[in-house]
Amino acid sequence: MSHQGVGPDLLPDSARIDSGRLSIGGCDVEMLAHEYGTPLFIYDEEHLRARCAEAVNAFGPNVAYASKAFLCIAMAKLVHEEGMAIDVSTGGEMYVALAAGVPAERLVFHGNNKSSQELEMALEAGIGRIVMDSWDEIRRIEALIGDGYDPPPVLLRVNPGIEAHTHEYLQTGVTDSKFGFPIAGSEAQRAIDHVRESPAMEYKGVHVHVGSQVFDVTSFARAIETLAPFVKESEAAEFSVGGGLGVAYVHGEHSDSIAQWAAAVTEAVRLAGIDADITAEPGRSIVATAAVTAYTVGTVKEIPGVRTYVAVDGGMSDNPRPVLYGSGYEAFRAVDADAPRTRQAHIVGKHCESGDIIVRDAAIPASLAVGDVLCTPVTGAYGHSMGSSYNKVLRPAVVFVSNGTTRLVIERETYKDLIARDMR
Ligand code: LLP
Repeated sequence: MSHQGVGPDLLPDSARIDSGRLSIGGCDVEMLAHEYGTPLFIYDEEHLRARCAEAVNAFGPNVAYASKAFLCIAMAKLVHEEGMAIDVSTGGEMYVALAAGVPAERLVFHGNNKSSQELEMALEAGIGRIVMDSWDEIRRIEALIGDGYDPPPVLLRVNPGIEAHTHEYLQTGVTDSKFGFPIAGSEAQRAIDHVRESPAMEYKGVHVHVGSQVFDVTSFARAIETLAPFVKESEAAEFSVGGGLGVAYVHGEHSDSIAQWAAAVTEAVRLAGIDADITAEPGRSIVATAAVTAYTVGTVKEIPGVRTYVAVDGGMSDNPRPVLYGSGYEAFRAVDADAPRTRQAHIVGKHCESGDIIVRDAAIPASLAVGDVLCTPVTGAYGHSMGSSYNKVLRPAVVFVSNGTTRLVIERETYKDLIARDMR
């Protein structure tokens, strides 16, 4: 357990702590919480733009933002303005990106079970790339092209049979996986041969994604080395190394920058003798550290001799990661972010679930009390996007802050929204 205040590594680029008070993008976090209500996702717009620019700089203009990490119209626009393409993995994500005005040719369509309707939507729009994931999908595309669509440019997702060092649920490159064509049993080879000969697809190259929240960049190098023969023999023009770069969530964790990751990837590509265009799909490393979530403390329950439970006004509905993956977070108060945190408590949500714990054994300021604004940093990825309205808790609002100004990019859900689709 760390007793210091929150460190700059876990905060957005523009975060400042002045007399203890945290501001982001020149906006005081406690005041934002009071103005917009809590729970509130606060994103540093400069930080988002800087990470997009870093990715484009490192990988070139075809690097795609993995929109599953966080997507709304404002985010899709921002990413497009900064020159990144966008990875969408469902018809829904595609719809949001298109609704934001992102040209279809800047979209890369992923997913292990794309329906004919989703594929048709992609073909109709003129999608940039489809990443082929199964034989059934190949057959679906062939049937649709038979109906008169132009052959789409495709990449083929190859599963290298590699265990990346991360949580089991976040590994995607092992042979026993629902994603991609495994190298094992020559499946990948057969699929590449088929796609290259099929008049229904324009073969562009190979894609691999080893997993997410990967700290050890040698996992990427191993995947690149394993896939090199496929890339070279199939004369792939493009090779996407997917996403997955890990980020620090708690004190003491260290992560590489996007530029360092790209340098490791580039070196592995050079060593493998690959001359295809290299691209990538970062999600978490673009958005995670850009945001903090602000909550309001509602109860502080001390169970003598056992522990203290601090309950906030959100929980697993705005951050399911601790429940799903056992992920750790820090918690600190908006008005004394650099103060020592000498007390220990579980920070819990308001859901009817004992497992609804946001931070287990959190270090908190000794005087934390009901009504305080409590923040968890590094919540920009896979928080809002994986949120739910379990217990009919309203989905939080999202604000972007920059240079002392705030813009609401997603309104807080209302009770009316909860019944908007119910038939009466
Ligand atoms: N490309 C593909 C094909 C992916 O499947 C993913 C993530 C990415 C790129 C982006 O990976 P990133 O750079 O964000 O690590 N819900 C989990 C993460 C699931 C990641 C799924 N795929 C979490 O909260 O940790």
